[in-house]
Amino acid sequence: MTALPIPNIELQHGTQIPQLGVGVFLVEPSETESVVSTALEVGYRHIDTAAAYGNEAEVGRAIASSGLAREDVFVTTKLWNADQARAADAFQVSLDKLQLDRVDLYLIHWPQPMFGEALGAWKALVDIAASGRAAAIGVSNFEIDHLQQLIDETGVVPAVNQIELHPLHQRRELAEFCREHGIAIEAWGPLAQGKSDLFERPELLEIARAHGKTPAQIVLRWHVQQERIIFPKTTRRERLFENADLFDFALSDAEMSVIDGYEAGTNFGPDPRTFDAR
Ligand SMILES: NC(=O)c1ccc[n+]([C@@H]2O[C@H](COP(=O)([O-])OP(=O)(O)OC[C@H]3O[C@@H](n4cnc5c(N)ncnc54)[C@H](OP(=O)(O)O)[C@@H]3O)[C@@H](O)[C@H]2O)c1
Repeated sequence: MTALPIPNIELQHGTQIPQLGVGVFLVEPSETESVVSTALEVGYRHIDTAAAYGNEAEVGRAIASSGLAREDVFVTTKLWNADQARAADAFQVSLDKLQLDRVDLYLIHWPQPMFGEALGAWKALVDIAASGRAAAIGVSNFEIDHLQQLIDETGVVPAVNQIELHPLHQRRELAEFCREHGIAIEAWGPLAQGKSDLFERPELLEIARAHGKTPAQIVLRWHVQQERIIFPKTTRRERLFENADLFDFALSDAEMSVIDGYEAGTNFGPDPRTFDAR
């Protein structure tokens, strides 16, 4: 099995993460092993899962049966909201399901400011990282004040913030804060979850035609050129190839500006300030 030619991005403290992976949110457990096995066979080396996705065990089976060396696959999982007060135990459950003795990246899934438990969870993740069982630690769906609290209270800056980010929701102020603090951005929903009219917009179709690419590839390339880490979800083999075929062309500044101009403040996921699901 040959890896796809996907560049790495260096996180704080030197951890290398493939800039492109595959995400398995809303991939049924019954389908997950096959989707991840196909992704690894096609050449993906970065899988994004979470305890809440209910498919860590299937991700683990696919990795175990791939024949790949552990160090050749980058695995991210996330601490679920209900477990913020018992992060060390929840992390061990995730490791067991994944059949791994360490992950490459462990994230707090949501800030849940209404419960006030994220800081304690962050301290637990710092201990996990110190034990060597997570090469890097970070957060997801954190706003500026949530990030600032962790930094102020612990002095430990998250390696990444995984946030909803796509052409219709560009999070510029948050992205700038992350850039200033050396926090890499992982853009979830990079294709706006396929829920918008993005791929039918005439300007985007024109840019796609000019490069001989699909509108989805243009949007993914727009992320790549801004140094974001992405893991578009697909259960279709042909789209695994399509979504990885991003590294042999470049968008011009004018083309990037067209997509920048799609900012509309439109989010498809929950508001991190009020999302209280447990
Ligand atoms: N931290 C968080 O709170 C959070 C929240 C959401 C997601 N995530 C992570 O981010 C990953 C990606 O986000 P997402 O799954 O929400 O949304 P996404 O990747 O933006 O969109 C996935 C949707 O786009 C479709 N799609 C994929 N490739 C396509 C292509 N080339 N052309 C047209 N349509 C395409 C997929 O359909 P098919 O499957 O039919 O191809 C699916 O319906 C997740 O899997 C998960 O790992 C994290």
